[in-house]
Amino acid sequence: MKTTNNSEFTYLFRNSAPYINAFRGRTFVIVFSGDALLDDAFDNLVHDFALLHSLGIRLVLVHGARPQIEQRLALFGVDVNYANNIRITDDTALQCVKDAVGSTRCEIEALLSMGLANSPMAGARLRVVSGNFVTAKPYGVRDGIDYLHTGEIRRIDNDAITDLLDRGNIVLLSPIAYSPTGEIFNVTAESVASNTAVALHADKLIYLTEKLLLQDNNQTIRELSLKATKQYLATNDTLYPHTRNILQSAAQVCENGVHRVHIVNRNTDGALLQELFTRDGIGTLISVDEYEGTRAAKIEDVPGILELIKPMEQLGILVRRSRERLEMEISNFVVVERDGMIVACAASYTFDETDIAELACLAVHSDYQDQGRGETLLNYIENTARQNNIKQLFVLSTRTMHWFQERGFSTADINTLPIKRKTLYNYQRNSKVFIKSL
Ligand code: ARG
Repeated sequence: MKTTNNSEFTYLFRNSAPYINAFRGRTFVIVFSGDALLDDAFDNLVHDFALLHSLGIRLVLVHGARPQIEQRLALFGVDVNYANNIRITDDTALQCVKDAVGSTRCEIEALLSMGLANSPMAGARLRVVSGNFVTAKPYGVRDGIDYLHTGEIRRIDNDAITDLLDRGNIVLLSPIAYSPTGEIFNVTAESVASNTAVALHADKLIYLTEKLLLQDNNQTIRELSLKATKQYLATNDTLYPHTRNILQSAAQVCENGVHRVHIVNRNTDGALLQELFTRDGIGTLISVDEYEGTRAAKIEDVPGILELIKPMEQLGILVRRSRERLEMEISNFVVVERDGMIVACAASYTFDETDIAELACLAVHSDYQDQGRGETLLNYIENTARQNNIKQLFVLSTRTMHWFQERGFSTADINTLPIKRKTLYNYQRNSKVFIKSL
């Protein structure tokens, strides 16, 4: 964050407030593994859940219980039995599942009962409700393997859950489900979460995981559109099975109406809050559409563009443009929009009876510099220009010459400008002319 220390709070608060506002009354399904519970940092996480609830977010929490189940199986001295990363639940295992899930749920309820301890909200009661909201059927026999009491989700009682959320409860779901004939099934927490998110038309499904999605350079993948997610799955065949499952179900829930799926590393303290309340987040966001996009500007973008170019006008890097002028010329502009904020813009102007165009007002927000957005805009404008049979692009610049030179522009004489532009040339400003053949 490029701010000085004492204004950091103000900066952060101003930037998170729009998200606080947007999330009020929204439904989030959050799923975490049984390992998360064993961690000392789990208290912090529960504290953050309470915080989300206090901001008016409708919360459905889904917990796993794998290590807790395994601990109990070990006491019985029986082997842990998985096929394709799915538990084969025999009678003993089911006994362990019931025990483990029951006690895990108690522990989470106890922690949530503390509410926002040591804050002005201490003593505010949080109500947590669990119940028989998930119906399952047997997973069955697959490839000759009988999965016994392992189940597959059949139905989520979304009316019951919605009703409870409407009344201000937090709903806690476990990796266990029932059948109409009274059977008990062991199901995965992930399948409970994804089915619930779809059934409730949740706004977000959030996976708190051990690992993040990495790209080749070991950097976290920050954003994936639905299309990119499918491509990623098709081209990466060495993914951990768990990661693959999460991505597959992320794509599926997105296709079924959940707007955003987030993958957040639970081992980073505060990661959940950072992901939710900052524009750039910290985890991976999977959404139907691109999170950030380059497009032609619309009249509604005028305030955003004005805000973006103001600092550069003040520094004299860009020529001052009035709101009226910008409104008139808005069709010349191209913008990069990131979650409702204009983070970069550029304009291009053509001149009658010439095949030369001007690139102008190229600006990138200071928080988003050196990440290729200027380039994206330049490419966009070059491509549109080519489509319109423009043969040359010129730019007038006083400071950023190198940037243009590195991208194929070379210095030119003022006389190369179209006459109309030449008459407008500001000799006092004494900008240099750079030109590029397309
Ligand atoms: N805070 C916003 C949200 O919750 C944006 C998060 C962006 N995250 C990312 N990994 N790019 O929707």
